[in-house]
Amino acid sequence: MKASPKTACPAADDAARYREVRGRMPALAAGLTAEDLQAQSMPDASPGKWHLGHVSWFFETMLLGRREGYAPVDAELTLILNSYYEALGERVARPERGLMTRPSLDQIMTYRAEVDRRMESLLADGLRDEHERYLFELGLAHEEQHCELFLMDLLHLMSRSPLEPAAYEAEPRQAAAPEAGQGFARVEGGLVEIGAGDAGFAFDNEKPRHQVFVEPFAVSRGLATNGRWLTFIEDGGYERPELWLSDGWATVRAEGWSAPLYWRREADGLWTTMTLAGRRAVDPSEPVRHVSFYEADAFARWAGKRLPSEAEWEVAAQAGLLSDGFGEVWQWTASAYLAYPRFRPTPGTASEYNGKFMSGQQVLRGSSWATPAGHERATYRNFFPPSARWAFSGVRLADEPALAERPLEPVQTQAFREAMIEGLSRPRKATSPKWFYDARGSELFEDITRLEAYYPTRQEAALLERTAPRLAESFGPGAVLVEFGSGASEKTRKVLDAAHDLAAYVAIDISPDALREAKARLETAYPDLVIRTVAGDFLSPLTLPADLPEGRRVGLFPGSTIGNLEPDEAVRFLKGARDLLGPDALFVLGVDLVKDVEVLERAYDDPEGVTAAFNLNLLARANRELKSDFDLAAFRHRAIWNPARSAVEMHLESTRPQTVHVGGRAFGFDAGETIHTESSRKFTEASLRETASAAGWTLERLDVSPDPSVALALLAA
Ligand code: SAH
Ligand code: AVI
Repeated sequence: MKASPKTACPAADDAARYREVRGRMPALAAGLTAEDLQAQSMPDASPGKWHLGHVSWFFETMLLGRREGYAPVDAELTLILNSYYEALGERVARPERGLMTRPSLDQIMTYRAEVDRRMESLLADGLRDEHERYLFELGLAHEEQHCELFLMDLLHLMSRSPLEPAAYEAEPRQAAAPEAGQGFARVEGGLVEIGAGDAGFAFDNEKPRHQVFVEPFAVSRGLATNGRWLTFIEDGGYERPELWLSDGWATVRAEGWSAPLYWRREADGLWTTMTLAGRRAVDPSEPVRHVSFYEADAFARWAGKRLPSEAEWEVAAQAGLLSDGFGEVWQWTASAYLAYPRFRPTPGTASEYNGKFMSGQQVLRGSSWATPAGHERATYRNFFPPSARWAFSGVRLADEPALAERPLEPVQTQAFREAMIEGLSRPRKATSPKWFYDARGSELFEDITRLEAYYPTRQEAALLERTAPRLAESFGPGAVLVEFGSGASEKTRKVLDAAHDLAAYVAIDISPDALREAKARLETAYPDLVIRTVAGDFLSPLTLPADLPEGRRVGLFPGSTIGNLEPDEAVRFLKGARDLLGPDALFVLGVDLVKDVEVLERAYDDPEGVTAAFNLNLLARANRELKSDFDLAAFRHRAIWNPARSAVEMHLESTRPQTVHVGGRAFGFDAGETIHTESSRKFTEASLRETASAAGWTLERLDVSPDPSVALALLAA
């Protein structure tokens, strides 16, 4: 099988994505009137018609227009649809966009369709180089940004009518609603890396990934709510200058602010707010929206807290501590919007995209309910002037860690405590298998791999040894191998031994101990190989190290660890890996196959009792790290084949009625009640194909071992 060169592009895929993204704004406009799409309610906002045209113009100018001999659809349109590109000459001032009744909405939609026709033809020919690909991705991301601006501007427009019309029947949520977080999380900080690496699309302002020092801090897991904001108002928040920055107070006075934008106190004293589904009562449990940086800052001071810096926000988000970090409201940070060290704007006309706004604006992090799903990133830097309120902006608080209260503990321990409490609170108690792998759990897993009953490691290692030379050939020279759930990186050696011209190896695992030991061993065995480790959860958004060599990314996910994910999680994981690894990636996936129940159950309930010890170590770990009081003698290991889910399930069964305490909470167990600790899904060729293709990967080859059978799949992005 021949590897495709890095710049060759999957045209069909690009066209499908283009259509999907381009379909969103017309869908938001459907049902609105031409008048709705014409009016402009304030200088900062733009008419819907203008957004529909501008995003098309962007593709025409940035991408189509770069091709030699290109004749614009209508050269005059640039005057109307250019937003702020000085290099492209004269344009209509933003406050006057609503006055442009010509071209008509119909003409703009015709223009859109023509740009689409031309883009489809460009994409059918294929993008020519990396820069063109970047501009294509930029065009898509730009369109997604304008989908959100479209909704922001429309809401403002609707709010200016005394009729307060509902633009939509229900709020057109673009992203799934996240769960609200509780309490504060402590973060150790230290020398950390923030910013976007080279994998996947990011705006130029998110780059380069670089080091910053972050002092220990605490961050609120949840967003500030309307309820808290009501208390702030009642406590004279908008009347006390001591709470406000000087510029903020001047703005409060000048603008007469006394509540968030769109809020109104009704005759009965109750507060209402304007939404895209009309005017509604303010719900105290919902996150506050439509506040400026000045208000966010004053609210934080009133609460005796502060706003997080953007580095703090990013560190906390990467550690998975912000349950509602994305999908609700953008969060103001204390950071001014400035260039990162060694920032370079995108070359060409797109250089004006971000860099020239780096003065007088404040960074917001996360994403909002109106941000198109998939547009969000932990490194994303949104920005607005400190007085802006019409964005879907809210507040997350930070604090100094109260050192005296509780010693700082690793982020992992906090996350483990929260996960145990959440899992034990469910009607059917369950925990994620990722918590098995502390230092002791990783050792016990290694013991499992050497058991006679546990065939998967043995079978897969032999299969890898046999197929590695062929796999290595398909990688091509200079590839970077990225392994997920690398553990001891023992099987990895079969690949490293065969792929002599590999440029680097990246090991990703949730167990820092396993990573450290594996790295030390590999450095001795492969002194010339660049080896990097990433300690983290492969289910949350990860970034690859900043200093990796160029070269095709090849994912490696052996051991049927994918079988430990829920089916929808597995698809999400594979999609995420595709984004992380880039457009010409390959992926080597190892899975265990459905077979005789006896063979399966024996592999998970070995006569030596090692798997039982591995399972029970979860409770031992909770006792060690969380000071919980599980009586290990009162729980027993169970492994059962569940044909409906095609998985071997591991449980810990309470042998008597008992109460256990974790993180200050009590959990009751009936005799026979279990904690479901792991599912190990077994695949068929069909279910494997289905999983891979649902995530956008193509199955290029499949090798199956002799019985007990396991399979290795080679997937292409
Ligand atoms: N790849 C090795 C080890 C498999 S054991 C093999 O095939 O033998 C599973 C590994 O995945 C463990 O090292 C565990 O620490 C890691 N792991 C499990 N869940 C994880 C998660 N959510 N994120 C990152 N690593 C995880
Ligand atoms: C890591 N994972 C694929 C193993 C499995 O087979 O599901 C974990 C394991 N659980 C019990 N034994 C091994």
